[in-house]
This record gives sequence, structure tokens and C-alpha cells, in this order.
Amino acid sequence: MTNENMLKEKIVKIKQEALTAVEKAKNVEEILQLEIQFLGRKSDFVGILRQLKDVSVEEKREVGQLANSVKVEIQTLLEEKKKSLSSSFDAQAEKIDVTIPALKMRQGHLHPLTKIQNEIEDIFTSMGFEIADGPEVEDEFHNFDALNMPKDHPARDMQDTFWLKSENKKNRIVLRTHTSNVQIRYMETHQPPFRIIAPGRIYRNEASDSTHEHTFHQFEALVVGDEINVGNFKFVAQQFFSKFFKKEIQIRIRPSFFPFTEPSFEFDISCTICGGKGCSACKNVGWLEIGGAGMVNQNVFVASGYPRGKYQGFAWGFGLERLAMMKYKIDDIRHFHSGDLRFIKQF
Ligand code: PHE
Repeated sequence: MTNENMLKEKIVKIKQEALTAVEKAKNVEEILQLEIQFLGRKSDFVGILRQLKDVSVEEKREVGQLANSVKVEIQTLLEEKKKSLSSSFDAQAEKIDVTIPALKMRQGHLHPLTKIQNEIEDIFTSMGFEIADGPEVEDEFHNFDALNMPKDHPARDMQDTFWLKSENKKNRIVLRTHTSNVQIRYMETHQPPFRIIAPGRIYRNEASDSTHEHTFHQFEALVVGDEINVGNFKFVAQQFFSKFFKKEIQIRIRPSFFPFTEPSFEFDISCTICGGKGCSACKNVGWLEIGGAGMVNQNVFVASGYPRGKYQGFAWGFGLERLAMMKYKIDDIRHFHSGDLRFIKQF
């Protein structure tokens, strides 16, 4: 057999082998392997092309042409097979098993404090109250002066204040230290009779521990009319706490001092755990401390633009976190703003 015929025969044989192999290939990886095997640098095919240097010019043309067309043929074949393999899908493998339990959808939810606030707002709206609001960045007048705490008044030291830089030295800017600023803001623009609550965030410049935070929430209540009295306060508070804790709650008041109320009281509720018999939650006294309250000081009415002696009202303010802690038995106030999902997810 001539050299030329031998080479032609080898080329045809390679072509046949390639055809069968490509036909059998089951995935794209195998196709890539075959590409290397049949057309790669070390393949028999390239070996044959190298041998062409030993044949005559005429033979070179003929064998060369055949080699070229076979190469194109194998390349096209590989390409087509690759395409069909990557687009085809295995019906068996893709079959949908509708009995497999679905992946659980992760859902967000409200922060426990937001829930508590919503609950409180619902209870008070049902009792005919309006929800009022005021700024967290407040001026000295609304946070202190108008609440009967003039600049040199020692009561200002009761609350550790975050002062902001401000041009106006006569009426400086603070982060509000309580929600009582809303009392003034509301009375400046409304006339009695009215009943409002004002929940919101407040700030105190103090070190934090399990019961103290620099940023926390209060909710203020303010009820003003011609004959509002302490009895009204006790009734509304007792109603609210009974609804909030979903059990009968008693109220107790003790004498106290706030510049913006006269008389002023601290008030307690009967222990939500033992109902007043004494247990570890109330340290055996049967009562839990809630917050401050009192009858609105006439100076506050005057600062808000009402005539002295015309109206009477009661106000209170207490910590939202404390209520949430009592309701859900949370032992550390710092959990609320820790951002720890293990805490948040329990609510
Ligand atoms: N503003 C007071 C405080 O933050 C609470 C309070 C409000 C007391 C209204 C009496 C009346 O401590």
C-alpha cells in the first residue's frame, strides 16, 4: 500500500471512531474529553498531519484536503452534540415530587417593643384616647422650662441629659429625656377637654445595666378637662393594666415629686404573678413599681397658653421596656436593642 493510501485509511478510521464515540457521549464533559482525544495536540490525527512532510507535493494536497474535511466534520459533530446535551433535560431526574415537604418560608415579624406599643395604642383608642406624637430632638423649653423646670432648678439634675451643639444659647437643643415634651406640644395646639397617650423613644446620658439603657421608650398619658381628678387617674390606669395583663389588677399610689405635677405620685400595680400575695417577682411585697404620675401643675398649663386655674388634668409617664419585661418575663433591658435574633425570634 502506498504511503498516501495508508494515511487516507487512517484518517477515515479516525473519523469512524470519532463518529461512534460522539454518538455514545452522555454529557458535556465527555464531549470535551473526546475533543482532546481526537483533535488535541497529542491526537493520532495531528500525528498523521505531521507525517505529511514525508510525502510528495501531489499526495500532500490530496491527503491534506481529506484531513481538513474530516477535521471540520468531527468539530461540527462535537459542537452539535455538545449543544443538544446541554439543552436536553432528563425527564426522570426533573420529575417533581409533590409529596416532598416545601422549604419553610422565613417571615419577618414586628419587634417585641413595637408589638407592645401597638397593643397599648389599641387599648387606649378603645377607651376614647388619641395618639399624640412629638420630636425626639427637642428644645430646652419643651423638654424642661415649660414643664416647670427653669434653668437653675435642681430638678433638672434628676435626668441626665444629652445636649446637642446649638447656636441658640437661650434655648438649647437636647435629645428628649422623657415623653412629657408631648404634653406641651399637644396643649400648644389643642384645647381641652382631651385625652391622649404619647408613646415614643427617649434618651438619658447614663451607664447601662440590666435595668437601665441610654435609649428607651416611655408612654405618656395626659387627660385634661374641667373636673379631672385623681380618681379618674386611678380608674383609667386600673382599667388599662387589667386589659394589658388580661387579669384583674389593682393600683396603689405613693407620694412623690415631679416639678410638672402637683400632687405627684409614684404608682404601683398589684403583682402580675402572685396577684398581691407575695412571690419572688415582687420580692414578697405584692406590688410592682410602674412609674410616675400626678395632677398637672398649673404652671404647666400657663406655659402651654391656658389660663391658670381653669382646667384640671392628670398625667403619667412610664417605661415601655419595663412593661414588656413584666409581660414576657425578660430579665435584661439590654436585650431589646442588642440586635440578637435569638432574642427577637421568641416573640
Ligand atoms: N416624665 C417623668 C419621668 O420621665 C414621668 C412623669 C410623667 C411623671 C408625667 C409625672 C407625670 O420620670
